Amino acid sequence: MERTLVIVKPDGVQRGLTGEIISRLERRGLKIVGLKMMQISRELAARHYGVHVGKPFYDGLVNYITSSPVVVMAVEGERAIELVRQTMGKTNPLEAAPGTIRADLAVEIGRNLVHGSDGPQTAEFELGLFFRPEELVSWECSAERWISE
Ligand code: RTP
Ligand code: MG
Repeated sequence: MERTLVIVKPDGVQRGLTGEIISRLERRGLKIVGLKMMQISRELAARHYGVHVGKPFYDGLVNYITSSPVVVMAVEGERAIELVRQTMGKTNPLEAAPGTIRADLAVEIGRNLVHGSDGPQTAEFELGLFFRPEELVSWECSAERWISE
C-alpha cells in the first residue's frame, strides 16, 4: 500500500475546484487519510520545491504556491503515487491527456491546479513535510473489495 501527498494549489482553491479535484481522486478509488487547508510559508515552499532551486521558473513557482491557501491531502491506495499522477495528467496542461484534471480544468504549466508526489521517496519526504504522524488516519474503507480484487 502506498501513501502520497496531493496539494490542491492556490489556483484550485481560488477557482472553487477543491471539491472537483478531491472528487476525481475519490471516484478513482483512492482513499483520503489526511486532509487540511493551510497557507504554505516561503520556508516550507523552499523545502518542498528544493529540487527546482536554480531553475528559471523557481521564483515564480514559490510565489505561486505561497500566494493563497492550499488544501493538502494524504492519499492511500495500491500504486497510489502512479494513480494520482495519471489522474492529474502531465505537468503542462497542453500535453495532458483529455480526461485528466490538468487537461480538463487548466491551460498553463504555471497554473496547473494540483501537485502529486512523483515517487515513493518523494512521497515519504513530502508527507513528512506537510503532516505530523498523528494527523494521518488509518481506516478501513468498506468499498475497497469492490475496487481491488
Ligand atoms: P508537481 O510537482 O506540482 O506535482 O508537478 P510536476 O511533478 O508535474 O512538475 P515538476 O517538474 O515537479 O514541476 C513543479 C511545478 O513547477 C511548475 N513548473 N513550471 N514554467 C515552467 O516551465 C514550469 N515547469 C514546472 C509547475 O507548476 C509544476 O507543477
Ligand atoms: Mg513534481
